[in-house]
Amino acid sequence: MSIKLAVIYYSSTGTNYQMAQWAEEGGKEAGAEVKVLKFPETAPAAAIDSNPAWRANADATKDVPEVTLSDLEWADAIVFSVPTRFGNIASQVQAFIDTAGGLWAQGKLANKVVSAMSTAGNPHGGQEATILSLYTTMYHWGAIVAAPGFTNQSIYAAGGNPYGTSATQGQDGKIVEDVAAAVKHQAKRTVTVGEWVKKGNQ
Ligand SMILES: Cc1cc2nc3c(=O)[nH]c(=O)nc-3n(C[C@H](O)[C@H](O)[C@H](O)COP(=O)(O)O)c2cc1C
Repeated sequence: MSIKLAVIYYSSTGTNYQMAQWAEEGGKEAGAEVKVLKFPETAPAAAIDSNPAWRANADATKDVPEVTLSDLEWADAIVFSVPTRFGNIASQVQAFIDTAGGLWAQGKLANKVVSAMSTAGNPHGGQEATILSLYTTMYHWGAIVAAPGFTNQSIYAAGGNPYGTSATQGQDGKIVEDVAAAVKHQAKRTVTVGEWVKKGNQ
């Protein structure tokens, strides 16, 4: 059974884009039809220009499509990757989520199988809180959270966050830990649980 997986991320300086690319690989390896989509930017160009890493990432990802409400409707399963901002999701993520009320009211967000990941500037900088915060919204959607738990050895190697893969952005702007395998496992698991749900719902 083919599952439609949306990998939806927000990234100012590239680390969550990298996480999204690994999730794309994992989703494809699991046989899903995958779309990588970014949350629309809401920051003014002046803010982006003030940070060379932000401008570089914005330019490098200009061709990645922005997520739309139709994409949410399309997806059977979703993997989110979002940065930690003061222990919470980025405002760009919240701004888009707040446009989904109409879909929610029509019951079109129920039974999506979802999981989330996050990066932060510190190993314990709030990734868990960010992921759990996003999951709170998922419960309102009636989505089914397919957290990784400790279902694979790669999760231990990536720091052991059972809520979703978390990573740290180093001084060089790149991800410090070796989390690629954990991200791919998480994406595969989200697809697998998505298949179970879709099959059971036919
Ligand atoms: C406004 C703001 C708030 C942040 N808050 C935190 C934080 O609470 N904890 C932390 O470790 N890092 C924090 N950071 C660092 C970011 O989480 C980190 O740079 C981000 O995960 C990188 O993701 P990206 O490369 O995908 O943009 C913050 C950064 C910004 C700009």
